[in-house]
Amino acid sequence: MRYPWICLCLLVLSFQPLWAQQATENDRLAARASNLLSYIAVDYGESVDNGQLLDTDLYRLQQHHAVQALELVRELPDKPGRATLESGIGELQEAIRRRDSGEAVRRRANEIADRLAALYQMQRSPVHSLPSASLAMPLYRQRCARCHGNWGQGGGAVPDLRNVSRMASFSLYDFYNTLDPSVDTVHSHRIDGDLDSRQRWALAVTVAAFAVKNQLPPSADLAERYPALVGLPGMAVTRPIELPSSVRNALMWWRGHPHLVRSLEHPLARAEGLLQLAETAYRGGDNAGAYHKLMLAYREGYQPLEQQIERHDAVLLSQLQTQWQKLRREALAGAPNAEVIASMQNLRTLLARARDQLEPTLGGERQYLWAILLFTLALALGLSLWWGLRRRKRARL
Ligand code: HEC
Repeated sequence: MRYPWICLCLLVLSFQPLWAQQATENDRLAARASNLLSYIAVDYGESVDNGQLLDTDLYRLQQHHAVQALELVRELPDKPGRATLESGIGELQEAIRRRDSGEAVRRRANEIADRLAALYQMQRSPVHSLPSASLAMPLYRQRCARCHGNWGQGGGAVPDLRNVSRMASFSLYDFYNTLDPSVDTVHSHRIDGDLDSRQRWALAVTVAAFAVKNQLPPSADLAERYPALVGLPGMAVTRPIELPSSVRNALMWWRGHPHLVRSLEHPLARAEGLLQLAETAYRGGDNAGAYHKLMLAYREGYQPLEQQIERHDAVLLSQLQTQWQKLRREALAGAPNAEVIASMQNLRTLLARARDQLEPTLGGERQYLWAILLFTLALALGLSLWWGLRRRKRARL
């Protein structure tokens, strides 16, 4: 009676590498489509102005990119939402045909790329922290500088990596994607072929730093107002151009100096970001990867603040502990997707609550500062009145 079960298990296990292979092939297809969409978003605007063609070849290339992106999406496994994605690309093709404005086409292309990433759970952010821009500089000098110049200045057909508005249109992930020869055709295998994922993320940061060289760091209160952008995945997936101008420049600087920004990242925000990555991995069938991210979230994000949370709210701490344990058990046992994902979301809600409690809001802090200022002013006024009265009294005497 046991044999059929053992055979079934063995059969399932023997298929596992096949599934894994299929998953990576799908990841590659989705990454290629995302890469083409990012080029449409950035390059189309240089080919058309006010409905007039500025560069016919570049314009045709964008049309071709859209056709290719559609073909790639059609190769991906069908699921609810893919049809909307396909019709979105159809509308993008129509917008290009109508010669809509660069901005309109950029928005459409980026929107489709984000929808694609959500639908196919693309991992667009590194699990480990990003290094400083200088780490990959020797590699950059060795591999990239002969075409891109020592400081990214480029020349001829090679784009200027210091061009702020162009660089603002790419996310860090877009740079990373460019450096994968199985995804992007810009560079040959000889240039990028043997780079591993960490080297590519490090080079993405090196590239991002060129546009903000010699610029002063943004004010610290911006980091408090936009906590999602000083950490992962926000820093890796956000395109600065989509942000209000004050924070756009800040993100440009932050992603070029991630090692300096790390201290601004709230550990609980790091835990939430890693849980988001763990969720993506779990949905994609990568249980081991999800477990690794879960443990990183626990160690790097939650554990350092455990005592602080306890001081603020002991009940919340015990809820958090129970939820971490539950999730760990479920992930280890390979529980069904829906169960694990619901637990992850519960945990993220609890973490967000803990963060709210630990961090007094900026508004609250401001009120406090105002109160001190008003008190000081009142005191100064009182003292000067008292001093004036005393002098008058003395003069009368
Ligand atoms: C043989 C010359 C050459 C080498 C070497 C080279 N690149 Fe490029 N790179 C190019 C060209 C040309 C483009 C533009 C292609 C296009 O837009 O069609 C480009 C595009 C890029 C882009 C996209 C930027 C944009 O504005 O479109 C990035 C990022 C980039 N390269 C980074 C690197 C890095 C990092 C290395 C080293 C690992 C490297 N490149 C090596 C020639 C080169």
